[in-house]
Amino acid sequence: MTQTLTPGAAPLPWNRPLIGEDEIAEVLDTLRSGWLTHGPKAHRLEHAVRERLGVEDAFAVTSCTAALHLAFLAAGIGAGQEVITPSLTFCAAPNAILQVGARPVFVDIDPATLNMTPEAAEDAITPRTRAIAVMHYGGQMCDMRAFRRLADRHGLLLIEDAAHALHASRDGLPAGSTGDLAAFSLYANKVAAAGEGGLLVGRGDLVHKARLLGRHGIDSSAWQRHGKRNTADYEVTVPGLKYVMSDLTAALAVVQYGRLPEFTRRRADIAAAYTSALADLPGLSTPAVEPGVEHGRFLYAVLIDPDTAPLKRDQTAAVLLKHHQIATSVHFKPVHLLGPYRDMVHPPLPATETAAARQLSLPCYPAMTDQDVERVILAVRQLWT
Ligand SMILES: Cc1ncc(COP(=O)(O)O)c(C=O)c1O
Repeated sequence: MTQTLTPGAAPLPWNRPLIGEDEIAEVLDTLRSGWLTHGPKAHRLEHAVRERLGVEDAFAVTSCTAALHLAFLAAGIGAGQEVITPSLTFCAAPNAILQVGARPVFVDIDPATLNMTPEAAEDAITPRTRAIAVMHYGGQMCDMRAFRRLADRHGLLLIEDAAHALHASRDGLPAGSTGDLAAFSLYANKVAAAGEGGLLVGRGDLVHKARLLGRHGIDSSAWQRHGKRNTADYEVTVPGLKYVMSDLTAALAVVQYGRLPEFTRRRADIAAAYTSALADLPGLSTPAVEPGVEHGRFLYAVLIDPDTAPLKRDQTAAVLLKHHQIATSVHFKPVHLLGPYRDMVHPPLPATETAAARQLSLPCYPAMTDQDVERVILAVRQLWT
């Protein structure tokens, strides 16, 4: 079981970006252009995202976390208000909710898809609820038609943490197109990787507010003022922050964004290879995909049942790393069990805690070769024999 399959094989990272000559050329073009901050490349990215998603507006920012912070600020969410959100997520959205003075109300997930369900969200609504912030786990969209109906019925804002879902859709709706606002990530390990970076998309009035808040509250951008008689001719309309994406980042992001159809196809092929090779292993569940879902495949997340699998999740990860030099990852430590949230009162979240103890993300990214994919399959199968 612990024998090395490929002695001396190079370590296979859990994730690695696929950067080509086009990305390098676009970044060099920006370096040579004389304009490094938010400008023409960021506008190209925003235009491309608006066109593809059919949203009213898009704003390129420094990270998905920044986009989420701006979303809650622009929506006017604050003290005394609650935002319903999952705990099986990254801390970014709950942290941003706390930062604006509101309270995250965690709800449980569907144990198969690991997404928050509209039914669980509805049960958590109180007179203090202002918004529902869904998260599309691993790139599989939540049921956004149902969430939209729920939000409208109760007069709530709907915000999508679509960090994993930049090229995902469900029932013909792209991720990010149904919420009042949605946030995407261009972090180094995401499906389109720009090192750091994010996008805030959605309703024109809210993105307009977010854009002001994301550039100090100043009523015009540096690019708009550039070349004008007096670049200091501006007004501060609200006490904003500084969250704009630089054109260096946008140069990389705009090329990666254009490659998403190619990247997603490759991710889907790898996922299909894993599912057909691993589905028969006892105690290991391959990811469940609901009807109508075009999965973005940021994660290939298996669930390992400690009672019926030969190895527990952490043992599986340790043996894959030690004996096969294959790195994996875990998504996520439930947020309600982390520092600032530990002493708050939460409802029971049994499906979240079970999934968090069982979940393991296998390498699944377009920079992998067919040999890499086969290596992962052989290693996992060997652990199970
Ligand atoms: C679900 C989720 N939301 C938000 C983020 C934050 O993204 P960023 O690093 O771009 O701020 C992440 C990052 O991994 C994430 O997984």
